[in-house]
Amino acid sequence: MRRYSSGLRQAGKTIAFVPTMGFLHQGHLSLMEKGKALSDHVVVSIFVNPTQFGPNEDLAAYPKDEDRDLEMTRKTGVDAVFLPDARQMYPDGFQTVVSLKALPKHLCGLSRPGHFDGVATVVTKLLGIVRPHTAIFGEKDFQQLAIIRQMVKDLEMGIDIVGAPIVREADGLAISSRNMYLTTDQRQSARCLYQALTTSRQLVKDGETNADAIIRAAAARISAYPETTIDYIAICDPQTLDNVPVVNGLVRMALAVKVGKSRLIDNMMLTQ
Ligand code: PAJ
Repeated sequence: MRRYSSGLRQAGKTIAFVPTMGFLHQGHLSLMEKGKALSDHVVVSIFVNPTQFGPNEDLAAYPKDEDRDLEMTRKTGVDAVFLPDARQMYPDGFQTVVSLKALPKHLCGLSRPGHFDGVATVVTKLLGIVRPHTAIFGEKDFQQLAIIRQMVKDLEMGIDIVGAPIVREADGLAISSRNMYLTTDQRQSARCLYQALTTSRQLVKDGETNADAIIRAAAARISAYPETTIDYIAICDPQTLDNVPVVNGLVRMALAVKVGKSRLIDNMMLTQ
C-alpha cells in the first residue's frame, strides 16, 4: 500500500481515501463517488477494527462479504482496496492510543467508552499507511467526523477531511450495515429516528427555540413505536458537540435509539 501510494504521489497524482469496515452499501459508495470527483485515484480500506468495539458489542457478529465488497468497489471505479488483517494492524507490542480530550465526552462516546480512541487510533494508522491528500467520511457518524477533523487539525496531518451527506432509504432510514439485523416489525419501528429528526426540524421552523421542548417531542415520537429504547437525543453545537439549550444559529440534533437489539444512530441540522 505504501509503495502504491508513493508511486502515485511521485507521478503527481492525488489520492482520495475512504476508510470502511466493509459490508458495503450505498452510503459507502457515495463516499467513493465523492472521492472520484475530488481526486485522480480512490483508495478504500476494509478493516473491521476490533479496538473500537466494546466487550458487549457486535464485533463477532459484524457482517462480512469480501467478494461482494470487492465487486462493488470494482463497479464503482475504485482504484485500490486495502484489506489488512488485525495481526498486521496490531502486531505484538503495539502500544499507541490516539485519544481526544473533549469531543468523545458527548453523544455516542458516553455509551461507548473507548470507542473513539479505537476509531482515532485506527484512522491515524490508516492515514499513515495510505497517505492520501483527501479522506472522506459520512455525516451519518457525525461525532466521528468531528473527531477526525479535530485530530487531523491538532496533529497537523495535512489531509483534507471531507464530509458527505447521509444516504437514506426511501422512508428516510439512514442506510447502515446494522439495518439488516432488523425484523420486519423492527424495520417499521426504525422509521422513528428520521421522523423524530424531521418533526424537530419542523418545530424549529415553526419558531420553537427551547431545546428541551424539542427533545421531549422527539422522544414522544420515538416512544410511539414498539421495541424502541432511547439511548440519547441531543441538540448540539456542530463543532464542539456541546448541548445547546436555546436554538439560535447552527445546531444539529443527534440521536441513538435501540430498536430491538440493534443500536441505530442518525442526525440532522435543525437550522439552515
Ligand atoms: P463504517 O461504519 O463502515 O463506515 C464507513 C464510512 O461510511 C463512515 O465515514 C460512515 O460515516 C460512512 N457511512 C455509513 N453509512 C452511511 C450513510 N448512510 N450515508 C453516508 N455515509 C455513510 O465508520 C466506520 O466504518 C469506522 O469507524 C472507520 C472510520 C472505518 C474506522 O474503523
